[in-house]
Amino acid sequence: MRILTSRLRGLPSGPVSEATLDRLYAFPRARWVRANFVSTLDGAAQGSDGLSGSINTPADRRVFAANRRAADCVLVGAGTARAENYRPSRTPLVVVSRQGRLPRGLGASGTRVVLATCAASGRRPSDEVWVHGDESVDLAAVVGRCASERMPRVLAEGGPHLFGDLLAADLVDELALTLAPTLAGGDPLRVVAPGGTLGRATEVRHVLEEDNSLLTLWRIRR
Ligand SMILES: NC(=O)c1ccc[n+]([C@@H]2O[C@H](COP(=O)([O-])OP(=O)(O)OC[C@H]3O[C@@H](n4cnc5c(N)ncnc54)[C@H](OP(=O)(O)O)[C@@H]3O)[C@@H](O)[C@H]2O)c1
Repeated sequence: MRILTSRLRGLPSGPVSEATLDRLYAFPRARWVRANFVSTLDGAAQGSDGLSGSINTPADRRVFAANRRAADCVLVGAGTARAENYRPSRTPLVVVSRQGRLPRGLGASGTRVVLATCAASGRRPSDEVWVHGDESVDLAAVVGRCASERMPRVLAEGGPHLFGDLLAADLVDELALTLAPTLAGGDPLRVVAPGGTLGRATEVRHVLEEDNSLLTLWRIRR
């Protein structure tokens, strides 16, 4: 992996090590929401099997791991957690579900798994069931709750519907986007589901390259 451009100064030259990746992907401050996606060159968030695993690359997996190391928690939609068969990881998980359904496989675990839902789900609030919002999940309150529970660096791993909702609520500070060197065609989900949009400019923080995958980090201007 090599650096094509970076706003960070003082990085060592030569192949990018895990230590350099950790510097490149360190969150710039607490109370920060970074989204992380992989996309084909034509913007698909899913491969032919409907999953992201079929479009990601070894370089993307390195960056995925670096993002997780940098984050205090992972925020993920229940749809992605179900489709991608999420399992507890070292990083606490906050799973967003309007229906209040925690995907199977995330029930009992040693690591913290929180369900973030709304009152319409009928779920009773507890330490591990956060109820914010009446008919829909109040994502600003969820992000605020992450911060108040000592998880201020939030890594939003998708999917496209949750990302669209986070953008609509103006809660996203950065986007880590891998461009995989392939084309999907067809009509797959894109990284942002219909309805999500960004009304602000973005600024590139870095572009890395490995085996024709481009690993990019974009900051949303405030
Ligand atoms: N390329 C990538 O980097 C990437 C990343 C992530 C996912 N994906 C792919 O994207 C696909 C899934 O896409 P998706 O957009 O359906 O995923 P998603 O946003 O994770 O899932 C949608 C579901 O999550 C819950 N949810 C999401 N946003 C919510 C909100 N604002 N409030 C309440 N609940 C919310 C709801 O669950 P309930 O139905 O339980 O209420 C909703 O039905 C999969 O194929 C996955 O492989 C790709």
